[in-house]
Amino acid sequence: MLHIENLVLTVTDPETGAETEILHGNSFALAQGEALGLVGESGSGKSMTLKCILGIEPSGARVEGRIELDGTDLLASSGEPLRKIRANDLALIAQNPHGALNPVLPVGRFLIEGMSDARNMSKADAQARAAELLRQVGITDTERVLHSYPHQLSGGMLQRVVIAGAISGSPKLLLADEPTTALDVTTQAEVVAILDEMRREHGLSMIFVTHDLDLAAAVCDRLAVMKDGEILEIGTPEDIRDHPKTEYTRALMAARPLLYPAGHPVPEAGTRAAGVESSDNAEEAGA
Ligand SMILES: Nc1ncnc2c1ncn2[C@@H]1O[C@H](COP(=O)(O)OP(=O)(O)OP(=O)(O)O)[C@@H](O)[C@H]1O
Ligand SMILES: [Mg+2]
Repeated sequence: MLHIENLVLTVTDPETGAETEILHGNSFALAQGEALGLVGESGSGKSMTLKCILGIEPSGARVEGRIELDGTDLLASSGEPLRKIRANDLALIAQNPHGALNPVLPVGRFLIEGMSDARNMSKADAQARAAELLRQVGITDTERVLHSYPHQLSGGMLQRVVIAGAISGSPKLLLADEPTTALDVTTQAEVVAILDEMRREHGLSMIFVTHDLDLAAAVCDRLAVMKDGEILEIGTPEDIRDHPKTEYTRALMAARPLLYPAGHPVPEAGTRAAGVESSDNAEEAGA
């Protein structure tokens, strides 16, 4: 459903006019329902890749190549059709949920404002739909959460709200940029489990950006290893572990001693991270 071909991103220094190429002609494809992990060190171009897809690259940057979503080349589209595709088919889940939420709106209003069909609903129906969305992401005390402002909720709870909001628009492609990095380890596992479950339930494709090769291997069907703006290799978690094609991938794995301890099988593609299964309905105490 997503075909990216020869993606090049060039930024221009506004002072000097000097151009720097940030992404150097990357290509990859994503099938319907597939999860691709983008892994690599800081500055390797993971977030910029997502920004190009979302059309939120830095001002003055030039994006070249093809970004084809369900047959439409986003880079060759413009105006209302492009705006619609980006608004309806893509959803971003970023590291900091506060960025996605409106600090002066209770969570319920935020969810309702994000529903495309809220105008045709009674207030009671919209409220019920918002509560249902929260239940889908494992929130049980929906009334309290719906009436809370973002600053009154924990990071993990907020990230669930952001996921609920993302799902409500029925997107085709979830773009998750370090969605759990800001959370504590237990909450991380819970949020990853919710994200994974929502993806499977709704048949969504996902690009999952993370520094954590272990997490990516557990959540994703395939991994793409990035360095210095280039995708070095793409393969299943098993491929990447057993047959790394580059020294860099080998080094990245060696830097994660806990990732594949000796004698331990690599997690099956698509299976969940250890400890995640049991925590599905764990509510965050005191959130
Ligand atoms: N606004 C900007 N203008 C110009 N260059 C930028 C801008 N933002 C980031 N870059 C550069 O683009 C490159 C890729 O950055 P990107 O944010 O995609 O890295 P990343 O892989 O997401 O790293 P991290 O893991 O730290 O989030 C880096 O070299 C960075 O310096
Ligand atoms: Mg980043």
